[in-house]
Amino acid sequence: MEEKVTIFDTTLRDGEQVPGCQLNTVEKIEVAKALEELGVDVIEAGFPVSSPGDFNSVVEISKAITNPVICALTRAVKKDIEVAADALQYAKRKRIHTGIGTSPFHIQYKIRTTPEEIINRAIDAVKYARKFVDDVEFYAEDAGRTDNEYLAKVIEAVIKAGATVVNIPDTTGYCLPEEYGNKIRFLKENVRNIDKAVISTHCHNDLGMATANTMMGVINGARQVEVTINGIGERAGNTSLEEVAMIIKSHHNLNLKTDINSKLIFSTSRLVSTLMSMPVQANKAIVGRNAFAHSSGIHQDGVLKKRENYEIIDPQEVGIKESAIILTARSGRAALNHRLEALGFKFGKEELDEIYHRFLLLADKKKEINDEDLKILSGQVSSGEKSMKLEMLQVTCGKTAIPVATVGIRINGEVHTSTATGNGPIDAAFTAVRHLISKTVHLEEFLIQAITKGSDDIGKVHIQIEHEGKIYYGFSANTDIITASVEAFIDAISKIK
Ligand code: KIV
Ligand code: ZN
Repeated sequence: MEEKVTIFDTTLRDGEQVPGCQLNTVEKIEVAKALEELGVDVIEAGFPVSSPGDFNSVVEISKAITNPVICALTRAVKKDIEVAADALQYAKRKRIHTGIGTSPFHIQYKIRTTPEEIINRAIDAVKYARKFVDDVEFYAEDAGRTDNEYLAKVIEAVIKAGATVVNIPDTTGYCLPEEYGNKIRFLKENVRNIDKAVISTHCHNDLGMATANTMMGVINGARQVEVTINGIGERAGNTSLEEVAMIIKSHHNLNLKTDINSKLIFSTSRLVSTLMSMPVQANKAIVGRNAFAHSSGIHQDGVLKKRENYEIIDPQEVGIKESAIILTARSGRAALNHRLEALGFKFGKEELDEIYHRFLLLADKKKEINDEDLKILSGQVSSGEKSMKLEMLQVTCGKTAIPVATVGIRINGEVHTSTATGNGPIDAAFTAVRHLISKTVHLEEFLIQAITKGSDDIGKVHIQIEHEGKIYYGFSANTDIITASVEAFIDAISKIK
């Protein structure tokens, strides 16, 4: 029988602490509802004493959410606990998360007290929190760098004081997976009353080991994991929810399960990324743009023969429609033929060899070969027929101006122009482009990245659009980010068959 691992999501607390990722209350409720749909068990909704805004968000999330436990963070301070209890008053199921630093660094240099005093404060905080709620989680901050014998004493004391969950954070992301796993096992074996509480992992990713450490924690007895969507969080981030959920789902021999509806992982990832203006790195496991994209010839050939040759997860399992075969100079004949057949063209071996030769010449010049290129390469249309090309772009915007854009696009040799307004210059330009095309397209992802740091640098834009259930990618780079955005949009539209 599989054992359940509780998913404690801290996107709205540890994740939201990241500079630039702050959400307003309405946005937080939207994320909380998406987390509830996704199937998380606990939502850490905020740190109520930190600001009136955070307090209000915990109140409103408590009202809006039905199934998951709503958790509020506090320090081991009476006032924090009182404010958290107040913020949680409307929660159907509530938890106070209180704690204190336990490592020599924190005891000596941050709190400036003694190890004995830390234990007393921890006991007092847990007992005080239990006066308000039945479910109290205790965190031993910087447990990763805390001596195991001392940590065991702290944990035994807080469980005796009434803690129902004990959180063992690797706050600085320092532990090695084996070391963190041993720490959890040590607590399991040496804390006399450990069976009265659930052990929780809370790992940071400073050395890129957050997921590995979390999994070692679980393998050694932890039954709650503290995670965030896309792994966002302080510095290098927290353990990412999607990675842990899919590891548990893929490795049946672990005999574990979660209640995550994996098919909602991708949409939740994009919602959080968009609302927090935090792009997901292209090669991020599970949810990155390239996580299911194959571009080398050997891999493409293998995937086309049998998907499992190079994919351990079916993309549909995480809510991604299909894997992508990206045609580049490293693609082989098998991938080229596959795409030509998908376009409805069948060629004999000799003809295919010729097209492949032309394909390689073009691919050396162009990063990615799209379907329009293929039609020209295979002689199905003339190069004059290709083309949707941005010929002209003019935008007016500013603090008091209504953003207006005029675009001129060459379509099949003729330039068509259109003007539109929008809520910003890019929105206005995209609307003007939409007026010139007959297809309905939805913007699924829009990512702007500066290549280096100066204001005069080249910006790269990646765009993902949806048309009749299919996804198309567009890319452009330009020193003018609005031009790059419109070009990327047109690039994606031009790939629609
Ligand atoms: O990383 C950490 O130690 C924390 C605690 C406040 C739980 O986020
Ligand atoms: Zn943390």
